[in-house]
Amino acid sequence: MRKNVVLTNHATIKDAMRAIDHSGLRVVYVVDEKNKLIGVVSDSEIRRSIIQGKDIRESVSDIVNPSPVVLSEKDLSDPIYLRKTIKRLRDKMPDARHVMVLDKNGCPKKVAYINKMIGQESKTKEKEMTGKNVLVVGGAGYLGSVLVRKLLSLGFRVRVLDVLLFGIKPIEDLLAKKGFEFIEGDMRNIATLSKAIDGMDAVINLAAIVGDPACKNTPERTIETNYLANKALAEACKYNQINRFIYASTCSVYGVMQGNKKLDETSPLNPVSLYARSKIQSEEGILSLVDENFSPIILRMSTLYGYSPRMRFDLVVNTMTKTAVVNNKITVNNGGKQWRPLLEVGDAAEAYISCLKAPFSKIKGAVFNVGSNEQNYRIIDIANCVKECIPDAKLTVEEGNSDARNYVVSFALINKYLKFKVQGSLRKAILRIKDSIQKKEIKDVDDKKYYNVEYNK
Ligand SMILES: NC(=O)c1ccc[n+]([C@@H]2O[C@H](COP(=O)([O-])OP(=O)(O)OC[C@H]3O[C@@H](n4cnc5c(N)ncnc54)[C@H](O)[C@@H]3O)[C@@H](O)[C@H]2O)c1
Repeated sequence: MRKNVVLTNHATIKDAMRAIDHSGLRVVYVVDEKNKLIGVVSDSEIRRSIIQGKDIRESVSDIVNPSPVVLSEKDLSDPIYLRKTIKRLRDKMPDARHVMVLDKNGCPKKVAYINKMIGQESKTKEKEMTGKNVLVVGGAGYLGSVLVRKLLSLGFRVRVLDVLLFGIKPIEDLLAKKGFEFIEGDMRNIATLSKAIDGMDAVINLAAIVGDPACKNTPERTIETNYLANKALAEACKYNQINRFIYASTCSVYGVMQGNKKLDETSPLNPVSLYARSKIQSEEGILSLVDENFSPIILRMSTLYGYSPRMRFDLVVNTMTKTAVVNNKITVNNGGKQWRPLLEVGDAAEAYISCLKAPFSKIKGAVFNVGSNEQNYRIIDIANCVKECIPDAKLTVEEGNSDARNYVVSFALINKYLKFKVQGSLRKAILRIKDSIQKKEIKDVDDKKYYNVEYNK
């Protein structure tokens, strides 16, 4: 029998949740001293018991369902009975992908996969997360509105919690979509957080006051959102045994690069803004919660670029493209020698999806830089690429040194552990943004909603 599928009745609720997280089967079977099945419990039943006041150190036997749907070995050769049993199981658990087969003594013998038994080709691997419930906090934002669409297209059920700093438009077309749910609310409110995580299997936190200038304008709100509320969210997930928690951090935490060595996840952090500091504090707060079960992962993303249903024109590539198209100008400040790692917004979304699918052993307490070694650019290189795509625009380089951020980052770790590779190209993204402006997909590029700092004044 595979590990983490069967536990003895000495196991605690916490042990049971860990077994479920690691097996990916959504349930764990519990046996007595003689290895006889006494019941089954699912991840959602465990979480429900916690909400009802159970302590995760208590025995799992207290919460098992003593009459689970199972098969005996001889049932396997009876196709009519098999179909009836599968129907009964799916009436109880629509996502069920397997059923336990017992030997003649009532002891678990093997796990039988339903699709295989009924001769159906499974579209996804039996253990994949697809179909699970994911909460995306900040899902109406620049990255969120791209990620949520990808998740839905992969069959995840998605709930978004967002206070809608930039309006509902980026996710409005999703409201009627099957598998999508929206809660308008502020993550700084603990009751809102509890409601949002109820019934979820994984949580992604993208919500924040984003960018140095926006944070500088609203320091109190920044600390409340980026640090305190994020810590409360992570604590609430841990309490409720939602152990897959993915946090959006930033390569800005490296701040000023010292020396020539590429920055990896172990490099010293040199934050040069409240934004970066709030992200570091959050990382530390989240990582302090890691235990045998709680398995958060921190994604330190490069500066994003590209088209999104919630467009931002305050990100370096997008800004340069906009001014090139609208004003025929590309302006490079501070000489343009500063290094900046870049990441296309769709690629960033893929990194989150990889984390949802990865085994717990690969994500637990991990910190990954997200980007690609080929997309470490100097600002002047970005400007030259925009110029190539929009040749009529005039390129001006202004000297100065007021931009302290300068870093070349290594992305070897995420590549090694999650096999993460980017698909996006700077050129393609610039042309896509150019198109969206020229074809009036984005009507008023100066609208405040495209600039985080304007909205957070
Ligand atoms: N865009 C980048 O270049 C970049 C780079 C590295 C890291 N990040 C991180 O990625 C995440 C997403 O960034 P983005 O560019 O999509 O930003 P964004 O500003 O477009 O999105 C943030 C979303 O969070 C929501 N939000 C803010 N406060 C909230 C609250 N109290 N309760 C609920 N929702 C709230 C906003 O309404 C918005 O929809 C952020 O955490 C950011 O720090 C972004």
